[in-house]
Amino acid sequence: MSIEAKNEFKPKIVAFCCNWCSYAGADLAGSSRLTYPADVKIIRVPCSCRVNPMFILRAFEKGADGVILCGCHPGDCHYSTGNYYARRRMTLLFSMLDYLGVENGRTRVEWVSAAEGVKFSQTMNEFVEKIYSLGENVRLGDLRCRN
Ligand code: FES
Repeated sequence: MSIEAKNEFKPKIVAFCCNWCSYAGADLAGSSRLTYPADVKIIRVPCSCRVNPMFILRAFEKGADGVILCGCHPGDCHYSTGNYYARRRMTLLFSMLDYLGVENGRTRVEWVSAAEGVKFSQTMNEFVEKIYSLGENVRLGDLRCRN
């Protein structure tokens, strides 16, 4: 990808964050003045297991270039086992996306606690960098949703 093309490409990244840990981690990152790219749009969900795999497919359909799901660490879920369900679902979804030709790097699951503002910031920076390297997502997008 040329430098000009890279400069023009502004990735759309959706981050689903559970209310109890990851969203609080994002909040801590903000209040600690840690930076992460503005390309990341956070959607707060009650728990990572609230994220139906269809939400991720829908995000790609609507033009997202990357989707990340953040939740409490295993064993720390506010609803006991929600993140275990989420982890299983995402494992299946990601292998299906791989089969459909969506690169592995476009999706990610990360456990971020409320005390891990630094981890949240680092994770988002890494993820955005990965999406920049992958470029625009051309799979699953609904052409009607393009500019
Ligand atoms: Fe955070 Fe369930 S409440 S993953």
